[in-house]
Amino acid sequence: MTTTPQPSPRAYRAQLLRFDAAGQALFDSDGLLVTQANAQGVQQVLDAGPYGAVVARHPGLPVQHWPGRIIAPGFIDMHVHYPQLDVMGSPADGLLPWLERYTFPAEAAFADAAHAAAVALFFFDELARNGVTTALAFATSHPASVDAFFGEAQRRGLRMMGGKVLQDRHSPDGVRDQTEQSLLDTEALIQRWHGRGRLGYAITPRFAPSCSDAQMWGAAELARRHPDSWIQSHVAENQDEVRWARALYPEARSYLDVYHRFGLLRERAVYAHCIHLDDLDRRLMHDTGAAAAVCPTSNLFLGSGFFDHGAAARSGMLHGLASDVGGGTSFSPFHTMLAAYYVGREGQSKPGLSLKPSALWWHHTGGAARALGLEGVIGTLQPGSEADFVLLNPQATPLLARKSAQANSLEELLFALIVLGDDRVVQQVVTA
Ligand code: GUN
Ligand code: FE
Repeated sequence: MTTTPQPSPRAYRAQLLRFDAAGQALFDSDGLLVTQANAQGVQQVLDAGPYGAVVARHPGLPVQHWPGRIIAPGFIDMHVHYPQLDVMGSPADGLLPWLERYTFPAEAAFADAAHAAAVALFFFDELARNGVTTALAFATSHPASVDAFFGEAQRRGLRMMGGKVLQDRHSPDGVRDQTEQSLLDTEALIQRWHGRGRLGYAITPRFAPSCSDAQMWGAAELARRHPDSWIQSHVAENQDEVRWARALYPEARSYLDVYHRFGLLRERAVYAHCIHLDDLDRRLMHDTGAAAAVCPTSNLFLGSGFFDHGAAARSGMLHGLASDVGGGTSFSPFHTMLAAYYVGREGQSKPGLSLKPSALWWHHTGGAARALGLEGVIGTLQPGSEADFVLLNPQATPLLARKSAQANSLEELLFALIVLGDDRVVQQVVTA
């Protein structure tokens, strides 16, 4: 009889930030995280908590000790365009001119598979430097851009979702696709990548103005045939865009309702921005289980508007944070959380509020995981979840060292990191 050797657990000692299922932050000033590979070779959290209590349950285990550092769940970026790396920092008079002038030309270059592969490499390096371990990403309309994305994610063993952009109208040569072919390509890419390792496919109609009715119906049909796939799109980002969508679909109650009429609102459907919604829209988001990807650096950069965090919370709709690079100005979750705080404070277009630091953090980790339909899988470091984590250095800069040393509570420590932190804080990333 042969026995397969039990994969030995690994143990990491440091300060430890986790979240419970309700989104409450848990913090151990001296914590221990124990992980073990599952049958697929994915490291999962076996145990976590105060050092003394946890180590007693695992005697003899060699422990990696990081004094003064913080172990925290890897960040989750709910909406990012990997091909828009080189579009970051391109000024324009709002969304639609920005798309025409910078974004579509940059995306057209992804017809070249070698270019796509090179950018994908850089993109995943940049995510890692910033502590982002999972992202829901747009590729471009070229299938090769999707292969480049997933190929690199697979080499790195990451949990990543992405998909080929669908845009068969109101789009220039070089990015516009063909209705029939775009749906066949999407089906083939789902077969190739969805559920392979930790990869997941996202059906990706760019936004209603760029997709014909036939393409929208086709996308919805694919989404029905693959109920555990993701859907990603944009909605209600910019006033000109909202007017355009309403002119194209006068019969719809709202821009969001356009997606509903095509059957594109469901769990695992993620809509970027959701700024110019009303309470009926928010209820529709809640009732269908669709989620908002909130993109504050992008919304401030393009002057799109201010997401209403208070109304979103009251409605119970799922939402979480995202960079929206290249409309977004940073890959750093710290910058995104700070921008979300600014947007929350804004009190002219809606009531201003102060989002709690631990709530901002939750929206970029466990809350984002829940919004993506990945509750219990990533984002919390709860036992049984995948061990994607970051090691943070609260002494990374002189000012941050000074400020974090004065923190009298977890909220004060997290806020010091959010306000003063960036990629320099991320010392190491460990993925499952
Ligand atoms: N709406 C349609 N396409 C895009 C895009 O690439 N970026 C943003 N921010 N909004 C969009
Ligand atoms: Fe976007």
